Amino acid sequence: MQIDVLTLFPGMFSGVFGESILKKAQEKSAVNLQVVNFRDFADNKHKTVDDYPYGGGAGMVLKPQPIFDAVAALKEKAKTSRPRVLLLCPQGEQHTQKKAEELSREDHLIFICGHYEGYDERIRTHLVTDEISIGDYVLTGGELAAMVVIDSVVRLLPEVLGNAESHQQDSYSTGLLEHPHYTRPVDFRGLKVPEILISGNHKLIEEWRMKEALKRTFARRPDLLEKMELTNQQSKWLEEIKKELE
Ligand code: ADE
Repeated sequence: MQIDVLTLFPGMFSGVFGESILKKAQEKSAVNLQVVNFRDFADNKHKTVDDYPYGGGAGMVLKPQPIFDAVAALKEKAKTSRPRVLLLCPQGEQHTQKKAEELSREDHLIFICGHYEGYDERIRTHLVTDEISIGDYVLTGGELAAMVVIDSVVRLLPEVLGNAESHQQDSYSTGLLEHPHYTRPVDFRGLKVPEILISGNHKLIEEWRMKEALKRTFARRPDLLEKMELTNQQSKWLEEIKKELE
């Protein structure tokens, strides 16, 4: 996968792209991450990328020209037919695991990050294919949001996660929040690991984990259960959980 990021602050990405799973993913050639300063594409003497808003008002607006030309150059270089062009902004569609899965099936993504200011509307209407928000709060720019989205996509690419880190059991992939995990010691300052997990009975352990996942999802995110199709067994357990809590 090719991922290009357009930003005025390329340095913000070096830590996140240069460590851990995103670093490994690039070493394995699962993804090529490129960060581009779109100021380099400004066609005016002073390399200005923003201007005052028509109609007046506070704040500056990102000009269309540098961003249109930067995207055109990336498309030309990649020669792929249709990259997805994603704009990070609080007005966008809220990012989800489903969206990450959808994006992980593409072969070229271009992220556009603004900082402090707004975007000329023609960027949204004539260049961008998706507008994404990572939540109902306002960041100083799209960079952190782009890192969140990229991280959620790259970890889904084949070969990126080893078995130990596999994403098959992730919260949100299964539709449920994850069950609790424990490791050694079995007794930590009087706090014990549930007996069942040291019983060696794999069938009972799987059952316990599923019930705990249902319990946690019911307690913290009941909205997720409404969207899910539960098996008969899961529905039965959920009824038991509700009764226990009555
Ligand atoms: N830019 C500023 N705030 C944002 C948010 N919540 N999500 C995506 N991009 C943003």
